[in-house]
Amino acid sequence: MTTANRLDNALSVDAHLKSVFPRDFLWGTASSAYQVEGATREDGRSPSIWDKFAATPGKTYQGETGEVATDHYHKMEEDVALMAQLGIGAYRFSVAWPRVIPEGTGQINPRGLDFYDRLVDTLLAAGIQPAVTLYHWDLPLALHERGGWLNRDTVHAFADYAEVVARHLGDRAHTWITFNEPWCVAYLGYGSGEHAPGLHDKQAAVTVAHNLLLAHGLAVPRLRAADAAARVGITLDFSPAYAADARPETARAVAWLDAFKNRWFADPIFRGHYPDELFAGMSVQPPDFHAGDMEVIAAPLDFLGVNYYSRSLIRGRSGVDGQAAVEFVSPVPGALYTEMGWEVFPQGLTDLLVHLHREYAPPALVVTENGAAFVDDWNGDGAVPDAQRQAYLAQHLEAMARAIQQGVPLAGYFLWSLTDNFEWALGYSKRFGIVYVDYPTQRRIVKDSGLWYAGFLRSLKE
Ligand code: GCO
Repeated sequence: MTTANRLDNALSVDAHLKSVFPRDFLWGTASSAYQVEGATREDGRSPSIWDKFAATPGKTYQGETGEVATDHYHKMEEDVALMAQLGIGAYRFSVAWPRVIPEGTGQINPRGLDFYDRLVDTLLAAGIQPAVTLYHWDLPLALHERGGWLNRDTVHAFADYAEVVARHLGDRAHTWITFNEPWCVAYLGYGSGEHAPGLHDKQAAVTVAHNLLLAHGLAVPRLRAADAAARVGITLDFSPAYAADARPETARAVAWLDAFKNRWFADPIFRGHYPDELFAGMSVQPPDFHAGDMEVIAAPLDFLGVNYYSRSLIRGRSGVDGQAAVEFVSPVPGALYTEMGWEVFPQGLTDLLVHLHREYAPPALVVTENGAAFVDDWNGDGAVPDAQRQAYLAQHLEAMARAIQQGVPLAGYFLWSLTDNFEWALGYSKRFGIVYVDYPTQRRIVKDSGLWYAGFLRSLKE
């Protein structure tokens, strides 16, 4: 099939598959504080590790930062009105710890909390359900300078911060996500150095991962105590590993990559222990455990948040094990790719959701991120045609329906993202939004995919 055929065939969701979604399925969009808010020096917000990292020459595309981003801090009401116009039922956003407790511990900043008060109230007034991520990568720099995630004390600072937010918003917001993608926080931030704070130390990444898990586990009961109606989960990013051949080396490499990318956090949370082959395969030592850590980490959750964009197709190198044995097959012959260099592979979402349901049996699963970056051209007026993104979304909605047909208790979908925004080290060079942002004017223009998503949501109510 040519790309055009593939796009034409998938520009809408099959009617039978559409009927599979339960009436109370949550349809939303997702964002994060540093990627959209801007106003990084306003109303008492202190710098985060991403403010410092993005301002460091060479760390981000053209030195771009989240200083202004999409100015969501000032345009919040407009953005919520846009969500309502599109018929979006839920909005996943993150709270910036540096706004709420600027030093990381101690003094609470009421003006920081005020913004999230207004955001939640505006969402509820528009009939949109808030879903709150407590940590989406923006650690207060002051805390980082006291050891940050390398310092076990930070786990208590996080639990305290989580309780402050839940006590403040927990009378109106009841869906709580402790961390967004702790794998990225630990490995990209401390192992590969691609993300803040930019360390290149795999052993440090192992320590950070353990402290993130501990912080998560300590926060769960604090959230429940602060909000009796709390539904608590965590968002993990997954890239299911597929074998490109039938060689035993490949099978071993697939198993290790699955442990490294997909099970590093899920196994401790849902099984109470790390994957056996993980640390040896990374050539590192296990983390420094304290008695009781794994019991704290395995605190029962109400849902597992799943971020899915693409899969990994790999071969195993002979004669080596672990990380050294993994050879990524790219490009995959005949595959379509997004602007992130990620293969479009909707089947991977079905396979992943079924696998997670069967392996870990969380009470519910929620796709907390899914979307695609493609080149968007806007000629200064009218529409923003983005058929590739629309096809990507339609195919992945169908993939979710197929998972539900296989018994997966899937409760919701948060499209990444409402608007184009700051894509971390890639700055504003990648556009994921279903709404185009003309950054010089901060004008929002709904893309064709946004109009399509709105039409799809309306059709569910017919
Ligand atoms: C992530 C983050 C988002 C990204 C999105 C696109 O999943 O990496 O949660 O902040 O912007 O996924 O890469």
